[in-house]
Amino acid sequence: MVGKSSLISSIEKYFEINLLDEIAFFSPSGKAGELYEIPVLHDDVEMDRIYLVGLGDQSLKDFRAAGAALGRKVRGKALNLVTVLASKKFEVKAHAISLVLGAYTWNLKTSAPVEIPTFTIATEEDLAMAEANAIAASVVLTRDLIHTPSNIKNPLWIAQEAKKVATSKGLTIRVLSGKEITKFGGLVAVGMSSPDPGPRFVEVSYIPKKISQSKIKGATALPHVVIVGKGITYDTGGVSLKRPYDLMAPMKSDMAGSAAVLGTIAAIADLQPNVRVTGLMMLAENALSGTAQRPSDVITQYNGTTVEIINTDSEGRLVLADGLAYADKKLDPDYLVDIATLTGAATLGLGRQYAAMYTRDNKLARELSEIGEISGDRVWHMPLVDEYFDSLESDVADLNHNGKKRKYSGGSLIGALYLEQFVGERKWIHLDIAGTGRSDADSGENPKGGTGYGVRLLVDWILSLS
Ligand code: BES
Ligand code: MN
Ligand code: ZN
Repeated sequence: MVGKSSLISSIEKYFEINLLDEIAFFSPSGKAGELYEIPVLHDDVEMDRIYLVGLGDQSLKDFRAAGAALGRKVRGKALNLVTVLASKKFEVKAHAISLVLGAYTWNLKTSAPVEIPTFTIATEEDLAMAEANAIAASVVLTRDLIHTPSNIKNPLWIAQEAKKVATSKGLTIRVLSGKEITKFGGLVAVGMSSPDPGPRFVEVSYIPKKISQSKIKGATALPHVVIVGKGITYDTGGVSLKRPYDLMAPMKSDMAGSAAVLGTIAAIADLQPNVRVTGLMMLAENALSGTAQRPSDVITQYNGTTVEIINTDSEGRLVLADGLAYADKKLDPDYLVDIATLTGAATLGLGRQYAAMYTRDNKLARELSEIGEISGDRVWHMPLVDEYFDSLESDVADLNHNGKKRKYSGGSLIGALYLEQFVGERKWIHLDIAGTGRSDADSGENPKGGTGYGVRLLVDWILSLS
């Protein structure tokens, strides 16, 4: 696709090379992300380096793959990568975000400081770049929280990080603990397994200027989105200990939903859409201890529902149910979303590239599916099978939380049916990100570890409501 535009001529002049010769030398296939390096010499010293990257069929997916490959190439190097992009808005945005995501790295090594490349993109798409900057920074924030080890990121620590974000972005925040959260029966039952510092409930709100100026509540018809995130800072399974133990190590990522909530609202604060957004972070550790809950306990969720505990490893739905019921009762959301690393079962049918999405609203499902393909955070609409509801019955309480053993399979959708009991009549979307929240290897835009899944999807969706 190289015609000799004036841009290419000036690049050739500046670097004293002939690009067509170089391309002929490499004979590239053009596959997305295929990468060649041309060292540029000045007086026999290598001064610069030109990267030739394949753009495949120039789909958004391929713009992302190319960005991620370039980002990965310069990861850990303190250099400046300059790209001239004559592409359209969506392509520029996808490419720019992927550059940053591909270059992402996290560690606590004391030997060498983490060096980060900077990216300069020449483009006329200012709005795309504003969105890309906000989203990329927020995915990085989300990933940093997920990568932080659980001995550091207890619920209090994450709440303090949320406060820092809120303060720097002008968001309102409330952090509740102790006696203030006794009504959050699920959060307390799970979180008191680790009483120092114990669980936290974080509510962080973005209110568009349009509403804050009018000061009259409900005077405008701006939509209100509430997002509830699972924030289990470590999931041992509790008394129902996870086995085999290999399954436990990745459970420092079990707060990925809450991290995505914070990342999403941080980007929204930067971009200022005319949508009200409230994020609820349900923060608790699921520890094995003398104060841990037991199978056969009965707890009371925020909306008064009594629940028989069957398996203390089904803790995510207990903390989420309180957040959903609180949102329904107190926040009057137009859209109620939850995001959670809820069930290993979510990955059984879908693998790890698509999150399991549950909603009764088919139109909303189609919109989110489309935004998923565009943003790169992909979702697959899953069924809420009413016939399975009887597996949540209990002899001693209103419900059991786990689904009766071996009655039906479909663990991800049983979890979804449980959560649905707490959303009232709201338009509700449940995202089970157990598969997408974490990656086993560096691959595409994802680093090994926490991916920051959900931020791109939720931010683009909220912007579409504006
Ligand atoms: N945090 C896990 C789910 C999970 C598993 C996330 C693998 C990411 C990767 C959740 O709390 C859990 O333990 N779920 C159980 C549910 C079961 C007991 C009904 C599971 O998936 O086994
Ligand atoms: Mn668990
Ligand atoms: Zn969990």
